[in-house]
Amino acid sequence: MRTVYVNGEYLPETEATVSIFDRGFLMADGVYEVTSVLGGKLIDFGGHLARLERSLSELDMKKPAGFDDLLDIHRELIRANDITDGLVYLQVTRGSDGDRDFVFPDPETTEPTLVLFTQSKPGLADSPAARTGIKVIGIEDIRWGRRDIKTVQLLYPSMGKMMARKAGADDAWMIEDGHVTEGTSNNAYIVKGNTIVTRHLSTDILHGITRAAVLRFAREAQMRVEERAFTLDEAKAADEAFVTSASAFVMPVVEIDGTALGDGTPGPVARRLRDIYLEESLKSAV
Ligand code: PDD
Repeated sequence: MRTVYVNGEYLPETEATVSIFDRGFLMADGVYEVTSVLGGKLIDFGGHLARLERSLSELDMKKPAGFDDLLDIHRELIRANDITDGLVYLQVTRGSDGDRDFVFPDPETTEPTLVLFTQSKPGLADSPAARTGIKVIGIEDIRWGRRDIKTVQLLYPSMGKMMARKAGADDAWMIEDGHVTEGTSNNAYIVKGNTIVTRHLSTDILHGITRAAVLRFAREAQMRVEERAFTLDEAKAADEAFVTSASAFVMPVVEIDGTALGDGTPGPVARRLRDIYLEESLKSAV
């Protein structure tokens, strides 16, 4: 049984509880981070914590703990659960003042809820999907307008994954005003010639921590990068495509809405960036 963390305590997962009045439960009033673990170490931890702080501050939510304490909790959970490869999930909600009210509770008297747990994923960096690539479909993006804040409002992304599954695909790319925003739980990229194209940062997409690292590595390797919006038609005509996230790293996309890209196998740019990302990010793992 897993050991999880809730509000200062390490507990067996069956004994960890939060209030039914918690605003995370009633209002999706919470933010989260997912950090991958490879070889027992955290990948891009500083980036994830910086984004967590930003999400909290954008929502006027109190910080539940400092950087060092959060790092200690991550490490203790990795140790207690003997995680070699996997994920650490962290969630902060605005807590509970013991009732339901749209108005935020007084932060002086209501503490945020802090929950962390691990997910063991042996061989996370060596997933079969990375060798074959994944298939995506296009769906309308009907999420709210602050997608740069990593909130737990994940109903539509979950529905998107189900729509993809129903269509015989693995994931969905969301489209707004004719342009791809991002994947349901990842950032989206296409490659045409020697240019990598991915949507520019704004409130329309999550500012992926993996995205930032991958673009930095791509530029360091003299690859051309264009940060701009692209259409699904442009994507279907691309040489290759891929997505990035903390749990998938760099994942090749080989089919979009039934159209195979190139020869229908992972492209050289995606494969190279995956190798570079895994190698470089392991060097700075903590
Ligand atoms: N999802 N865009 C969306 C909508 C996401 O949910 C995620 C991450 C990303 C990639 O961000 P990062 O590289 O920082 O993981 C982009 C996580 C992995 C999840 O919900 O499980």
